[in-house]
Formats: sequence, C-alpha cells, structure tokens
Amino acid sequence: MKKVRKAVLPVAGLGTRILPAAKTTPKNLLNVWDRPLLAHVVAEGRAAGIEHFVFITGRGQGAIEDYFDHAYELEANLEAKGRTEILAAVRADLPSSGEMSFVRQMAPLGLGHAVWCARDLIGDEPFAVMLPDMLMDAEPGALSQAIAAYEAVGGNIVVVEPAPPGEAHKYGIVALGETSPGFDGRLKSMTGMVEKPAPGTEPSNLFISGRYILQPGVFDSLASGKRGAGGEIQLTDAMLDRLGADPFYALEYDGVTYDCGDPLGLLRANVAYALRDPAAADRARAAVETVLRA
Ligand code: G1P
Repeated sequence: MKKVRKAVLPVAGLGTRILPAAKTTPKNLLNVWDRPLLAHVVAEGRAAGIEHFVFITGRGQGAIEDYFDHAYELEANLEAKGRTEILAAVRADLPSSGEMSFVRQMAPLGLGHAVWCARDLIGDEPFAVMLPDMLMDAEPGALSQAIAAYEAVGGNIVVVEPAPPGEAHKYGIVALGETSPGFDGRLKSMTGMVEKPAPGTEPSNLFISGRYILQPGVFDSLASGKRGAGGEIQLTDAMLDRLGADPFYALEYDGVTYDCGDPLGLLRANVAYALRDPAAADRARAAVETVLRA
C-alpha cells in the first residue's frame, strides 16, 4: 500500500458567503484565533504525515504564497527589537524548501476542476484533499483519522458527518453499505453519493465534510470535464464514476467542524480556539462573557 504523502488544498474559491471580508484577503487567510485558518489546516496535514502541499489558487491570492515564505523586513525588525516570542510565532508556519507548490486554477470551474489542476504534481499515488474552509477540530486530526482508515482498508476514504436538519441539500451526501470492522462502527463502505441532492431525495444525512483520501484514478474521471450540480465540474461526480473501479469508504470522524466560509462558523471557530488555548483561555472566557453581559 502506497503512503499518502501529498495533499491538495483548493483555495481558489471567491468566498462569496463571507464577502466583503474575502474581497481583498483570501478567505482561507482570515484569522482563527492565533493564526490564519489555512495555517491550522496545514498543521493538521503535517500531523497526518503530509510531506507536500499543493495549493490550487486563483487571482489575487498571492498573499497565500507570501504567508508561507520569509518576511525578511518584518523578521529583521522583530529580531532587532528582541521580540523573540512573536518572531517564533511568525516563523512557526514556514515550510521547508520545496514542501509547497502553487498551481493557478485559471477559471472557476468547480472543485473537481481545481483538484484536476494538481494531476501532474500528484502523479500515480494516493493523495489527500483538504477543503480548508472546513476547520476540523479533532484529536487525532481529521486527516490522521482518515489515514488510519486508509491504512486499515485501502481504497478511497471520504470523511463525513451528520448534516444539520434541513441542510443536506447544500452538500455532497453519501449512500452507505456495510460497516467495516473497528473504528467504533464509524467506517462504512459507500454505495453511492450525490452532490447537492434535491431536498427530500438525500440517500442519508451524512455529508462530505472536507477531507478525502483518493486514488489517482479519479483524475481519469475528472479529465472528462463533465459538468454537474451548479454547472460545475464536481469532485463528487468523479468519485461516483470511480465507485465501480475502486472501493470507497465513508468515515464518520470524531471531532467538531467549523465552516469558516460562513461568518457564524468563523465566529464559533474563533471563540472555540481561543477558549482551548491554555495561554489565553481565562482571558478569552472573560472577554466573551463581557460581550455577552453587555
Ligand atoms: C464542496 C463539495 C461537497 C462538500 C462541501 C463541504 O461543496 O462539493 O461535496 O459537502 O464542499 O463543504 P461546496 O462547498 O464547494 O459547494
């Protein structure tokens, strides 16, 4: 079984639900407590053993490359002032040389198209997809849980979770078959999936929440460029196309997801991450309580 070494992070989305905040700042660089959202997701990938991150970017997102590079003036300034703690925080997310690649998705043709843009960089090996606006708070991390499942059963793993009542039509929804041994009954074979089902037609209440382990054969299906829900090239449709060729499993992961593409999700993530930071929890709780009392 080949190790999962690479992850694709599609970051080109317009961030429509969080405009105007995402007008000049890529939505994945919006802040979650002590660092940009994207830095939390990269940390999750590193903890899962990812060695190479492929970002699929769009116009106006150069700040993402800059974030993962030295800022010499800033660092020299902090160094000269002896601000060593802040300097360490600024450098904490830097990659090692060659650990990251950036590919431009030149047209907003959908998630499937974004992933397809990474085909040459991924080559012939299994890979992870991480949707960075879904911040998945878990220990071990959501991607680590997916890789543990992959190491147990192989094939493709799609991380899922229950959709809030009445919201399944906003997501990709899976249809489930047999339960695999272990994983507390949370790993099941998949028999189907549908992107943005019409309300009332969902095959289950479990939605595709933002972490995947995929076999490279999915690129063959993506190459057709077939349009699906919303007129976009959908990753869900390409996976469905591969269902007969490779096994697919849905893993209901153990953790909490914050949809940070939405202002309320971003707010909840900020409060949650501040409250669980041992260096700040007491002050953060007092700050939140002051706001609630006012
Ligand atoms: C994408 C996927 C969908 C998944 C969702 C999770 O949809 O296509 O299957 O459930 O992310 O956020 P999008 O949010 O791009 O509409």
